[in-house]
Amino acid sequence: MKLVIAPDQDTACAHVADMLYTCCAQNPAAVLGLATGRTMERVYGHLVRRMHDRPVNLAGCTTFNLDEYCGPVARTAQSYRAYMQHHLFRHLDILPTQTHLPPGDTDDVTAACARYETAIRAAGGIDLQLLGIGHTGHIGFNEPLSSFASRTRRVRLAPATRTQNAEMFGDCPDDVPQHALTVGVGTILETRRAVLLATGPGKAAIIARVTEGAISPMTSASALHFHPDCTFVLDEDAAMDLSDECRWMAEFIPPRH
Ligand code: F6R
Repeated sequence: MKLVIAPDQDTACAHVADMLYTCCAQNPAAVLGLATGRTMERVYGHLVRRMHDRPVNLAGCTTFNLDEYCGPVARTAQSYRAYMQHHLFRHLDILPTQTHLPPGDTDDVTAACARYETAIRAAGGIDLQLLGIGHTGHIGFNEPLSSFASRTRRVRLAPATRTQNAEMFGDCPDDVPQHALTVGVGTILETRRAVLLATGPGKAAIIARVTEGAISPMTSASALHFHPDCTFVLDEDAAMDLSDECRWMAEFIPPRH
């Protein structure tokens, strides 16, 4: 695992946006794994600006998102499809048919999840997987006890995750859907390259646990120690609980103005 520590949130987000931009610029058929959440909003802002300043042909680019809420909400403005449309897709010259999210409103979950895995494989696998991290240590919506071999499936969201995501639901955790579809930890471990972005002091404890603690299905992100090419990009706030030993191994990048 590689560690990159940025002096502030904006620099960390711009760094990750650069990784996504470079992946698309170097490979016209790039397959991106994308994430939602508050942390990624600024990343997509930077990426959209980069794409406008120096356009890249995205006609051959394909995206697969990590997760989507289950039920009718998957067709509403609170869905992750709507989030992606708002923050990224509508600003880019990318074919809607090339953008994929797990179909949270499906009647046949088993078949839909199997089709999602098949579609990722048919696209040639994911070149660069973007990840955030939840307070439970989840990546995607792989909550505690997710098998490291898990694949795309329906999961129950942890209470802490429903609290974390309540803002889009009138700050009422009980209104956050109880279930979601998520790609599995096993699916994530098969990506060619992964970058996990964490910013802010609220992520410091879980980042220290995942980076230096036990590798355990109780913290899904700890599975990333088994990923062959994974980078954690942190701002100083999210990195503040890391030990000196860990910080010695990190690359420190300068502020972006
Ligand atoms: C969302 C996802 C989640 C989030 C994580 C962090 O697609 O996969 O794992 O990345 O919950 O969310 P924020 O950025 O809102 O703290």
